[in-house]
Amino acid sequence: MWGGRFASGPAEIMEEINASIGFDKRLAPQDIRGSLAHVAMLGSAGILPAEDVAAIEAGLKTVQAEIEAGTFTFARELEDIHMSVESRLREIVGPAAGRLHTARSRNDQVATDMRLWVRDTLDQLDAQAAELQRALAETALAQAGTVMPGFTHLQSAQPVTFGHHLLAYVEMLGRDRGRFRDARARLNECPLGAAALAGTSFPIDRHATATALGFDRPTANSLDSVADRDFALEALSAAAIAAVHLSRFAEEIVVWTSAQFGFVKLSDRFTTGSSIMPQKRNPDAAELVRAKSGRVIGALSGLLIVMKGLPLAYSKDMQEDKEGTFDALQTLSLCLAAMAGMVRDLQPVPEVLRAAAGSGYATATDLADWLVRELGLAFRDAHHVTGRLVGLAAARGVGLEALPLDAMRAEEPRITAAVYDVLGVENSVSSRTSYGGTAPANVRAQAERWLQRLAGTAA
Ligand code: ARG
Repeated sequence: MWGGRFASGPAEIMEEINASIGFDKRLAPQDIRGSLAHVAMLGSAGILPAEDVAAIEAGLKTVQAEIEAGTFTFARELEDIHMSVESRLREIVGPAAGRLHTARSRNDQVATDMRLWVRDTLDQLDAQAAELQRALAETALAQAGTVMPGFTHLQSAQPVTFGHHLLAYVEMLGRDRGRFRDARARLNECPLGAAALAGTSFPIDRHATATALGFDRPTANSLDSVADRDFALEALSAAAIAAVHLSRFAEEIVVWTSAQFGFVKLSDRFTTGSSIMPQKRNPDAAELVRAKSGRVIGALSGLLIVMKGLPLAYSKDMQEDKEGTFDALQTLSLCLAAMAGMVRDLQPVPEVLRAAAGSGYATATDLADWLVRELGLAFRDAHHVTGRLVGLAAARGVGLEALPLDAMRAEEPRITAAVYDVLGVENSVSSRTSYGGTAPANVRAQAERWLQRLAGTAA
């Protein structure tokens, strides 16, 4: 490949550690796209004669067709996708192929290819996250009035609605999508033409190649262009945060589907059985979504560590950006798809949710609020009275609503029978009409707002 300076080929083990073709062959479409833009520009700038440009273009398209048809042979001796494409091009079009690499280096080439791949993948993740939001918002609308316990410290706190709980994830995914788009906007500058590190003496038109490849502009500093991978790091951090959101929801599905909770039922399509225990319905998909967040986070830390000590400009270390980035973003894509499927099949069990919402003195705050609103107690005093009433109910083994009025009056003589109105979970949730609160009317309005946004082009 670089025969001029070398008398012998690489050691077997050198080839093995050096080659990236095993994983960067995935960049073939991006590599060919970049080469087509580059060679067209070389032609228009008068750097290459038209007949060479035409031959190279036709040859690149043949290579592309071979790769798509699966007839292309990827050979480890050729090290990476860039050398593999060029070498096959030479077989097809002859010596003209050697002119394609004018005013270019693999350093700007690979930086361009990776940006194109990450950009396409971010667009795909954005669309998939929108699809999951849609599934969640539709279920939220249908379940806007379904009460369930809301937790803090995984202890029953206050009743909420199932729809409200799902909309919390719609908000998280909305921010995840914002991060995907921010990352996309910042990565959308074209490194092609930075060459090895210093730019080139050929009269290239970097604005033309940038435009041809859908970038907003060329990158402004040739060293930076080939030396940074922050675009991948940014995509990975956005992915890691999204994966953590999915993992938390997955954990809730695991807990909710347990016999002890029984809050929701997962469809057969998203559960597995046990080879020994016939009664089991395991939420494997949710468990795997929870687990796979580890790989995404790992890829982010891995690449941060690869990059942290590298002097400018390119170092071969940067070839290690690929496997982690490919794997992490595709893993997230799989998790988003699995989650959307689970959400669409998820069946809440209203009677179980309702019973759980009423247990654990979940309406104690409503009682305290009533004492403040109706009797004019200071909140701290109301908190104290309510605490004693909860203690009393617990000692009798009943809920607050089953505590007789005279027992309540023994603690606070001004309490009237009207108090029982706020001790019901439905009353509790419907009263929470503050902006962003769990009242069914709010949840319905928020779910509708999301569904409208998601239906529009600017989802
Ligand atoms: N396969 C290499 C990578 O992924 C391409 C760039 C090689 N550049 C070089 N100067 N050896 O980073």
